[in-house]
Amino acid sequence: MNILMVCLGNICRSPMADGLLRKKIAENQLEVFVDSAGTSGLHAGEAPDHRMRQTAKILGTPIDQLRSRKFVVEDFDRFDLIYVMDKSNRSNVLQLARNEKDQEKVHLILNSIHPGKDLEVPDPYFGGEQGFIDVYQMLDDATDLILEKIKKGQIQ
Ligand code: 4NP
Repeated sequence: MNILMVCLGNICRSPMADGLLRKKIAENQLEVFVDSAGTSGLHAGEAPDHRMRQTAKILGTPIDQLRSRKFVVEDFDRFDLIYVMDKSNRSNVLQLARNEKDQEKVHLILNSIHPGKDLEVPDPYFGGEQGFIDVYQMLDDATDLILEKIKKGQIQ
């Protein structure tokens, strides 16, 4: 199985979601490929934002090795599940969907812990340090649940 995490810049939220799920997949010796991308491509080639990297390191999931890339339409072919952080990411990704099969792959990541609520992972880029800690905690919880679902065979 292949899972893609998507946000706007691919330097704050989606690399954090990517790093957390990657770590948990490795710890559980599961065969799942995890990656992340941004809809804007504005930061392509860059490492994650230094504030997200710092928070990630302090809280135990370093993401220094990840690099930003732009979401491309071929990602619908390469990935089984595409988790977006907010509704704006969702509409940007859905605009590129070619058919219903593509559309069905796209989910708001917080719907995995709060089904049907359409809650968003807030963009921490223009805010303070607490925003990065909040993002980490939300994504830690969401990726715990995604991992459990993978282990139970509820995500295939
Ligand atoms: P991200 O955060 O989508 O979580 O990576 C952002 C990063 C950069 C920008 C916006 C959001 N930006 O406007 O450059």
